[in-house]
Amino acid sequence: MHNIHIAGTGIWFPEQKVTNEEIVNSYNAYVENFNKINKESIDKGSVLAMEYSSAEFIEKASGIKSRYMIDKEGSLDINRMMPRVENEHPDRLSIHAKVGIEAAKKAMEQAEVSSDQIDAVIVGTSHAPRNYPAIGIEIQNELGINGYAYDILVGCSSTTFAINNAFSDIASGLADTILVINPEINTPHVNFTHRDKHFIFGDACAATVVQRDSTSKKAFKILDRKLHTQFSNNIRSNYGYLNRAAMDNKIDEELLFHQNGKGVFKDVCPLVASLISNQLKSNNIEPSDISKFWLHQANGKMIRLITSKIIGTDDFDPSITPMPISEFGNLASVGSLFAFNLNNDLSSGDKGVLCSFGAGYSICSIILEKT
Ligand code: COA
Repeated sequence: MHNIHIAGTGIWFPEQKVTNEEIVNSYNAYVENFNKINKESIDKGSVLAMEYSSAEFIEKASGIKSRYMIDKEGSLDINRMMPRVENEHPDRLSIHAKVGIEAAKKAMEQAEVSSDQIDAVIVGTSHAPRNYPAIGIEIQNELGINGYAYDILVGCSSTTFAINNAFSDIASGLADTILVINPEINTPHVNFTHRDKHFIFGDACAATVVQRDSTSKKAFKILDRKLHTQFSNNIRSNYGYLNRAAMDNKIDEELLFHQNGKGVFKDVCPLVASLISNQLKSNNIEPSDISKFWLHQANGKMIRLITSKIIGTDDFDPSITPMPISEFGNLASVGSLFAFNLNNDLSSGDKGVLCSFGAGYSICSIILEKT
């Protein structure tokens, strides 16, 4: 009887930290400038004045205090309001591959595996930088890994769906050890001139080694996986290769990341809570047997609400729901893995739930047990 484990994980994030105060100062300076330039039209009523943002609102509404960005200067420059990046180029390693390799090396070290033991690479991300060749194959080549590689796109559930694919490939006998990599370079897709969106995302990457019968000290046995998807436009990006040929001439602002935050909150919390509750029940595990809920980091209130629905009380030890969102912001699909990587010092036999949820809607919950 074989077991399949998360043998090790690794994380990467940029050096440049941006506090709420810094991001609000930049946004508010942009607003002041916009309102000054458009004063005449605003006074006439033909243009709406922009409203100011506030650091207090951001922390209260989301739990976010700061985030890390690939380019703080460009993102906070009121004449630019986006990071400075370069187009993909065949002579250069892509940014997704670069950060993926950084996270992968840490995961491989923790899992005690080398490149020649890896049979496949699966990259899962919310934002693909290009259509092909797959980032997974680029990373496979750089790390000298044999076998196969591919990319998947499942919004904020890309990390857990990729871990699920790795499990399935191993269970079917296709591979023994798979490297899952999740680059989330989110800030190029954020509209930093939108008050209800400018504070949400940070950039990051995580990697996970999934392995049959791992002997790593950090290994967690995968006990069960549950996946659910349900179509919604409440989190949507219309950016893609059709844009250049589209006849409706939409501007960037209409194509970038868009969300109806309140709608997401209302729809997703009950869905996730019931999926995890039913999963625990069907595995004969009591919610009180769960030492950690490593949940998707979209909003601190969502994390607390989902956990209280599962365990039946809002009076619980906050350390069971790690909240890296406070320091890192929303990291799209790697939020739950950051929560796991930074808070998994458990004893043998302890159980936890790794669960992501987001665009699609998509949810994947994985029950883990420390070996
Ligand atoms: N500063 C100050 N005020 C702000 C503001 C800002 N940056 N952004 C919005 N506001 C105002 C709004 O205009 C609104 O004012 P009104 O009541 O006069 O209309 C008020 O604050 C409340 O705004 P709202 O957008 O309803 O806030 P919220 O409590 O729903 O929090 C989110 C917003 C986005 C933090 C929250 O909805 C959320 O996190 N939802 C889940 C998102 C999610 O899961 N996303 C997944 C993507 S991976």
